[in-house]
Amino acid sequence: MAIPTSKATSKVKIVYDSDEDTSEDVSTTFTICDILRMIAGLGLIWCAMSKFFAGRWLYTPFHSSAAKAFGEGPQIPSHWAGRELPLPFTLNQLSQYTGKGDEPLPILLSVKGHVFDVTKGESFYGKWGAYRKFAGTDCSNLLGYSMWDMSALGKKCSHDLTGLNGKEMERVDSWYKYFSKKYPEIGYLVEE
Ligand code: HEM
Repeated sequence: MAIPTSKATSKVKIVYDSDEDTSEDVSTTFTICDILRMIAGLGLIWCAMSKFFAGRWLYTPFHSSAAKAFGEGPQIPSHWAGRELPLPFTLNQLSQYTGKGDEPLPILLSVKGHVFDVTKGESFYGKWGAYRKFAGTDCSNLLGYSMWDMSALGKKCSHDLTGLNGKEMERVDSWYKYFSKKYPEIGYLVEE
C-alpha cells in the first residue's frame, strides 16, 4: 500500500493522442497551485467585468440591484411630485436628461417610446456608466442586439425599429418588460 507523503500535490494529467507519432505521449500536468491561479484569474476577470457593466466590483446575479428593485416595485422619484404623469417628451427635450448637465436633473431614457426615470441606475447611465449612451434618448434599436454582441454599444441609437426581425423584436420587448419592472415610467415620446 502506498504511504501518502506530507508534500501533497493533486495532479491532473491530460494525454493527447497523435496519429502521426505514437512513440511519445505529450502530457500537460496541472498542480493544485495552477488550478488556484486559474480560479484567481477568472475571479479577477469577473470583478473587472462587474465593475465595467454593473458599476460594482462584485456583481452577484441573485443579489443584483434589479432583483431588489423588482421586489419593491418602481417608486416615482420626488422630482416628479405634483406633475401630472405620464408626461410627453420630444427627443430634444429628453436629451437634457442625461444627468451630465449643470442642473441636477434626473436621468431619463426611452424604450419603445416609453420614458423611464433611470436615475437610480446612475452607475449604468451616468457619466462613467457602461450604458451612458442610452441616457437622454431612445436606443430601442440597440436593445434588439444580443447581450454578447458588444458592437451594439458602438452603433447609433434610434427609436425606429423598422427592419428588426422577430427574434430582435422579442429582445426589445423583453428589455421593455425589464425596464417596466425596475424603473418608474414617467412619460412617453412624442414627435418634435
Ligand atoms: C459582454 C457583454 C455584456 C456583459 C458581460 C453585460 C453585463 C451586464 C450586467 C452584469 C448587467 C447588470 C444587470 C443587473 O444589475 O441586474 C447588465 C445590464 C444591462 N446591460 Fe449588459 N452586458 C453586456 C452587453 C450588453 C449589450 C451589448 C447591451 C445593449 C445592447 C447591454 C445592455 C444592458 C442594459 C440595458 C442593462 C440594464 C441596466 C439596468 O439595469 O438599468 N449589455 N449588463
